[in-house]
Formats: sequence, C-alpha cells, structure tokens
Amino acid sequence: MLVALLSLFFAFLWHSRAKVVTADPPRKTNGYTDVVTWDNYTLWIYNQRVFLTGGEFHTFRLPVQELWLDIFQKMVAAGLNHVSIYIHMGLTNPAPGVIDFDDWRAFKPIFDAATLAGIFVVWRPGPYINAETTAGGLSHWLTSEIAGTVRTNATDFTEAYIPYIDAIARESAPYQVTNGGPIVAVQIDNEYDQKPTHAEFFEHLQRQYRKGGIIVPLTYNDPNERESFINGTGAVDLYGMDAYPQRFDCSDPKTWYPVATNYHAYHTRVNPSQPWYMPEYQAGAYDPWGGPGYDACALLTGPDFEDVFYKHNYAANTKLISYYMLYGGTNWGGIAFPGVYTSYDYGSPIRETRQLSDKYDELKRQNMFIRSSPEFRKTDWIGDSSTGIPGVSISSADAFGTLLTNPDSGTNFLIVRQNDSTSTASIAFKVTIPTSEGSIMIPLTTDSIALDGRQSKIIVTDYHFGTHGWLLYATASIYFAGKIGDRDVVLLYGSSTQSHEFAFFLPPGARVSSDLSPYVQVSSTRGKGTASVLPGLVGLVTVVETNSLLILYADAVTAATFWAPPVRDETPNAIKGLETFWQFGTNTTVLVGGPYLVRNASISDGVLALRGDLNASAMLTVFAPSNIFAVTWNGELVDTMGHEGGMLQAYVVASAHLQDGIDLPELKDWKYADSLPEIKVDFDDSDWVVANKTSTNLNVKPLFGDGRVLYGCDYGYCENNVIWRGHFEATGSETAVNLTIYGGEFFAASVWINDQFAGTVYSRDEGANQLFTFPEGSVVAGQDNVVTVLQDNMGLDEDDNEKSTRGIAGFDLVGGGNFTIWRVQGKLGGYLSYPDKVRGLLNEGGLYGERQGWHLPGFDTSSWESRDLSEGLPGEGAGVGFFVTSFDLDLPAGMDIQLSFQFEPFNEQPYRALLFVNGWQYGKRAANVGPQTRFPVPQGILEYNGKNTVAIALWALENAEVSPMLQLSVDGVFDGGVGPIATVAPTYSEVRG
Ligand code: GAL
Repeated sequence: MLVALLSLFFAFLWHSRAKVVTADPPRKTNGYTDVVTWDNYTLWIYNQRVFLTGGEFHTFRLPVQELWLDIFQKMVAAGLNHVSIYIHMGLTNPAPGVIDFDDWRAFKPIFDAATLAGIFVVWRPGPYINAETTAGGLSHWLTSEIAGTVRTNATDFTEAYIPYIDAIARESAPYQVTNGGPIVAVQIDNEYDQKPTHAEFFEHLQRQYRKGGIIVPLTYNDPNERESFINGTGAVDLYGMDAYPQRFDCSDPKTWYPVATNYHAYHTRVNPSQPWYMPEYQAGAYDPWGGPGYDACALLTGPDFEDVFYKHNYAANTKLISYYMLYGGTNWGGIAFPGVYTSYDYGSPIRETRQLSDKYDELKRQNMFIRSSPEFRKTDWIGDSSTGIPGVSISSADAFGTLLTNPDSGTNFLIVRQNDSTSTASIAFKVTIPTSEGSIMIPLTTDSIALDGRQSKIIVTDYHFGTHGWLLYATASIYFAGKIGDRDVVLLYGSSTQSHEFAFFLPPGARVSSDLSPYVQVSSTRGKGTASVLPGLVGLVTVVETNSLLILYADAVTAATFWAPPVRDETPNAIKGLETFWQFGTNTTVLVGGPYLVRNASISDGVLALRGDLNASAMLTVFAPSNIFAVTWNGELVDTMGHEGGMLQAYVVASAHLQDGIDLPELKDWKYADSLPEIKVDFDDSDWVVANKTSTNLNVKPLFGDGRVLYGCDYGYCENNVIWRGHFEATGSETAVNLTIYGGEFFAASVWINDQFAGTVYSRDEGANQLFTFPEGSVVAGQDNVVTVLQDNMGLDEDDNEKSTRGIAGFDLVGGGNFTIWRVQGKLGGYLSYPDKVRGLLNEGGLYGERQGWHLPGFDTSSWESRDLSEGLPGEGAGVGFFVTSFDLDLPAGMDIQLSFQFEPFNEQPYRALLFVNGWQYGKRAANVGPQTRFPVPQGILEYNGKNTVAIALWALENAEVSPMLQLSVDGVFDGGVGPIATVAPTYSEVRG
C-alpha cells in the first residue's frame, strides 16, 4: 500500500516536472485532405506528429517482387518509417501509347509489401527522376519523337507525359494513406529548375496529378539551396532540399568535406512555416566506369559520416529525411546512364546483395532513437556554438553544440560534434545545461564527455519514456525507449572506450541490479539514481529492474544487435487500415538481442512468435511483457531459459548450411557460336531498317557526311548495342573511313571493312572521332563494299541532355565516293514491338545473338560447337561470340542465399561482355575499364531449385587474345528470408513464339 502511494506521489512529481503543455501550432493543409498536414515542426498523419525518416529504394533496380518485402522489412527494422520510391517512366511507358504495369512494373505488389512491412511511401514518379538512369527516367521514345524541349510546357512534351501521369495517378491514388494505403506524399518531377519558362510545366504537371485523384501533399526536391518552388509557389505543397556533402568521387574515401553550417539559417530564412525537409540526403555515392568500386563509397560515407552528418541535420531541426540510396540495387539491362556501371550498390546501408552493413547499424542506432523519442519530434532550435546557446556552455572550443528543446516537455537535445567536423583527433569537455532541477554541469561523476574523431552525440536532459520513465540527463546515447508490457524501458549505449553517465528517476523500492557490471557504478539519492559507465564495458548490463522500470545499458556494438519489432495484434482504437504502420495502433513492442535480423513479431496466448534471419546460431535476449512464457523462431519453439521478470534467453540453432556452406556447380560445358555474321561477305541486310532520315530531334545535328541521320533512337533502336552497315560502290582508291561516333561516356565502337577489322574507338567522352584505316586488300573495286560499325549505347544522359545522340554523327570515305545506303539494326522490334514484354524495354540489344534469342533459356544450342569461355573467340580476332551453358541448382528452402557471378580479377583485357542469366541481362563488363568483376544476381532471376541458363556475349575489341573466366560464387548464407520466390524467366519459345 505504501509503495503504491509512494509511486503515485512520484508519478505526480514526474508530471509536475514536465512543463505546461503548449498548444501545437495550427496545421496547414493543401486544401485537398486533412489526413496529411504539417506545421512548422513536422508532418502530421491523421492526428499523429511524425518524424518522417526513411530512405530511397528503386523497385525497378530489383525486379523480383517478393524481395521488395525484404528491403521494406529491413528498413522498418532499422527504425525507419518511410520509403521513397522513384518510378521510371521509360520502363512504364516504353512506347507512345503503351503503359505497362505488368510483371515487376506493377504497383500493387509494392503497396502490398509496404503495408505488410508497415512502412509509408513517398512516391516519386517523375516523369523526370535523374537517378543515374538512362535519360533520367524519361521515356526513350520521346527523346527522339518530340521536337519540343523536355520538361517544359512544349505542347508535344505535354502530350507525351499526360498519359503517363494519368496512369500513374490512376494506379496509385487508391493507395494513398487517405484510403488506408501507404502513400503519404507524392513528389513531382525532381530537382526541377524554377525558371520563368518552367513554371507552367510544373503547374500543369501538378494539376494533372490532382485531376488523377492525388490528394496527399505534393512535394518538391531542390538541388541545393536554390529556393525554387518554395512556400507554395508553383503549387507545390512542401518544399525540400537534397544534399550530397561528400559528392561522388570515392577514390579518396578518408578525406571529407566538412558539414554545411547554414542549414538551419537557410530554413529559417526561406520557409520557416514548413517543416525542414530533406527528400534526399547522401547515404552513399554512385561510382563511374573505371572508378574505385563501391566499398570505397561505403567507406567515404561510412558509420562515422552518418554519425556526424546525420546528427548535424537533426541539429538543423530537420524532421523529414530520406537517405539516398538506402538500398541501391542493380542497373541491369540498359538501366544505367553513362556515368555508372551495372552495380548501383551505392555503398548503401543495405548492400546490393541485400546484406546489412555497419552503416545499417549506425542508421539503426539513430533511427531507433528517433522512433523511441516522441519528444524529439517537436523541437525548437535554441542556438548553437556560433550564436551562443542561452544557459548552455561547453568547456572546449573544439566542440560545437546545437540545442533543440521540446517546448512542451522541456526536454533538451544538445547535439555535439567537433568544431572541425572532419577532425580525426579526440576531444573531451564538460557541458553546463539547464534542467528541471536547475543548471547542472555534466558529467558529475565521470571526468568528461569524450568525442572521438568524426563522432557526434545527442546529449539529453529531462527525457521521458514510457509512463513514468525519466532521465534527468544522459551523456550516453539512447537506443530504445518505450513501454514493454507494464514496464518503462530504456536502453542506453555508448562507445566502449569512453565513459558515460546518466541520471534517472528511481521509483521507491527500486533497487539497482544486484549483479551489476564492475564497469557500471550507480549511486542513488531520494528517488534518483546516477549511473557512471567506465571505459571497457562490452555487452549488455541491466542497471535497474523493477516491475515498472527497466534500465539497460550496452556498448554501441551490442546495442545495435537489438531489434524492437512492432508487435501486431488487435487494436481497438487503431485507425482503420493503418494498424500495421509504426506509430499507429498499439505501438507494442519487445526487445530482442542477438539475431542477424528480426523481421516481425506477434504475441498470442503468452507465446512470442519471432520471424527473422540468422547468420549463425544465436543466443536471443528477449525483453517482453511478463506474461510471455515461450518464444518461437520462424515457427519453431525454442528452448527458453532464465525466464525472470520479463527477460528470456533462448538459444536458436542455425541450420547446418551456415557452417557447411553451399556447394555451387562449376560453369563449364560452354557452347559457342559466332555472333557477328554481319561482317561476312554474303551477309544479307536487305530486311534491315534503311537509315535515311535527314532531320532529328536529338541534340547533335549531323556533323559531316551527307546529311543522313545515323542515330539509333531515330529508328527505334535506343538501347544497348546497335549495328550499322554502310554500303559503297568502291573505286579501289578508298583508304579509310572517318567516323564521329556517339555512344555516351566510356563507350566503344568497332569498325570492319567487309570482313576485315579496321579498329576500335574507345572514349571517355560522349562521342569521339577516329580515322579507321582500311587494311591492305580489304576494299574490292567495282562492287558493293560494306563498313560495319558495332557500337555501345551506354545509356542516355540526364540533366537536360536526355535527347542524347547515340550513333554516327559524321561519316566520310577517305579517298573515295559516297555511301550509297546505310542500314541499322538494334534490339529486335525496336521500342515499338520488342517481343520480350516481361523483361521489358531495356533488356535486349542489337547483337546478332540477342536478335536471335540466344540469351533466352530454352534456346537449343545442341548443334553449336563446344568451346570454353576462357578460350575467347576462335582465331583471336576482334569480333563477337556467344557462349551459352546451363547448370542446376538445388538450394535449401527457408534460407536467404545470395549469389554472384564472378569474373576474373581486373586485368585490362580488351573485351566487353554481357552477362545473361536466364535471359536477363544482369551484367555489363568492360574488362579494360573496370571496376566491376562481381555481379550479384538475386533469387527469382536465378532459379534455386532447377535449371539455369547463362549466356555471355563476348565482344573482343582488338585482334588479341582474351580469356574471360566466370564462376558462381556465394555472397551470403542466412537462415530465414522472405519465403518462396518465384523465378520469372520466359523461355525462348515463349518470347520469340
Ligand atoms: C540527386 C538526384 C538523384 C540522384 C542523386 C545522385 O541530385 O535527385 O536522382 O541522381 O543526385 O545519386
């Protein structure tokens, strides 16, 4: 009884500590809906203030529908609450009048998976997206078919995008949050410039979305601080700005640019009545052909970068943030623009293989804190070390602090970093800061607050959690705070090489843990405890444990092994349709330490059912409501032990495959066929398209020749390899052909005169001029001679250069007459009638073997000669050949096994190769450019229980020996995964009829 009375008394104290609640400012709406609104602090969804935190993921870069759930679940597990998704117009609207939502282009599976995972969506369908994709996402056909300038109100451009936007709106409007779906905002276009001529396009685009029933806020992404379309101009509801402070050169990954120091000032000056929104903030970088590779990008933007730069954004009071890319994926087929290669791994927190990295851990530490801290959603920016912070002083000038205060609870968030944000030296200091108990100088018992080089911390005072939980202050960081069962729970963490301190409300009768670590000292006086954590602590420590309170502490690495999956159960007061989204419904959770990943949890009849992944056997440490007595892991009951006061331990045994590894077949028994019959004397090209246009909408007009336009896009061949054949009646005096060829940066083009090789041009630029000398005796006087040009199209450019020229911009026969006829061949059917509707527009190119369908599974190669891939082309001449083989896999179910195709190490051999896996072009290798040698291919493209076909289109660029090697290789083996994955691989007869 006494205890009950005392706790009431302390509860009263707790409440009286919290300041008088100030009213929220009036919310603003766009006039279309009150479901998603905003004030100057944050977005509101229904009546909940939301710190929108998430990241970018492009479903088109992972064309296996089942795996979208994997990415979404991994995002939610890191504490994120939204995913930002670009849609690619070029893939969805591949030809005039054709809108394609079939297969991996479908929207419903995206929204279903997002709903299942409980993640909101910021939808970014363009039409322009940038995204390092061909033409920045604009449809290829419109680059050549319209005369007007793209992304303006030119009539032909307007007519070109209306059907696309209408279809987007039609397919996505039902999935807005207003209808119980996940979409909370729609961004129109991307990084659009606010020039006078541009406003009309933007307004029209906006009206088109509205007409189609999009009622959630329309948002805008400004590239840098340009103040474009701000404060409702151009009919955009919410302004946002993107930033990539380390830029995109990963070759010197330890050298940093410093933080931008004016973010808060900028926001205050330009749109203080809206929340501070960063629709894209750097989470990695793209890597160009010949670049240092994505591990370098992951290092450049590593956990230390996240620590300093992301917390710096919080210090600017940013409350809507999306990290670009959270998961990058793969530029399979012709998805890439010329500035990137097949991998779009991006050095992201979730790697291309879908594995979690150390960057994921840091992202998770920060976002678990954000998710756990309602008081952090509404903060006023009080001041920083450059302006001075009322009541706060920091004892070292090497430290830079920014104070945010929640006006309702009085909670302070002091974000500290080093004054020189790039410094690698360590510093230490004390902080004087106001609290509900007056001004205090912290730490009190340990010597100082330490910051390592490139480290940042959020120091809190008067931080409340659960029903009565309260921290007077903490120099340790908060990983998780909330309510588990009847207890107020907080898990704090800090670096194991530093000391940390926190003071907390200790309810009457509560005692500090009896088996406290020697590294933790707790003193208590009158309802308050102070914990000092000494350097050296590794692992989890229970500091205080009562029926109503649980205070845990762990080192930073151990903390990140904890998961807090939202627990789904019946919620009487949840908003209909939104029960599954975090922050809606019950907010019930548990803490689970140990496994590689926890995907979800549910509770029924005292049993906690966990689903997740293991990379090894693991001891689970579970904090759950006290009535939980058993735990299942992926449906199997596990032995639990030490069930005491809501903590269970359970040992989960991983499958034997994790130890024994996975056996993979060798790639052998290759079959070979020549894929360049076009250079044969008797080759008949009479059914090819005649290239005889004399005008073009593309951006380089013919430079020399006779005015004929030799650009693939003008003839429907806008993707991948294109082959040209120029005929001339020879006099015998022709000595060379002078060609200017455009293929995009890092393209190559090989030239033959009749069946003789005349050379290859390589270019780091978009186009190049070269003289191709005809070898002795290669020209035959008095008859038809043919110049054959095989060229790459590396993708179309972005940034107002979408109408990229890809083809021959100048041609001249040296010492001779004129070309009589030019013919062109690209992907079978061009963009108007390509046959492979499933894999889509960008999968195939114009190599002979591709036109014949040799890359497709089921094509019969039994009559082909046997030839090992490592032998290269017969005769060691420049040319193109197809190598095809097949292999069986029989991989265990209930696992997530990640595989790659591994070429030989970088060796500068003069070849290019396309890798086709079950018909999907899943790799483009430029062996003499690099850097990519390893090509991850997901399950669903690969068939894990059956036959697989792999084809290599080998283009030898010189008369020289090349010897490609290829093997299958394991990236990772995990128990768990998302369940069955169907392979989508239409066969030769299905595709070619
Ligand atoms: C941004 C752009 C994105 C992407 C990014 C770099 O400016 O909005 O689409 O291109 O740069 O990866």
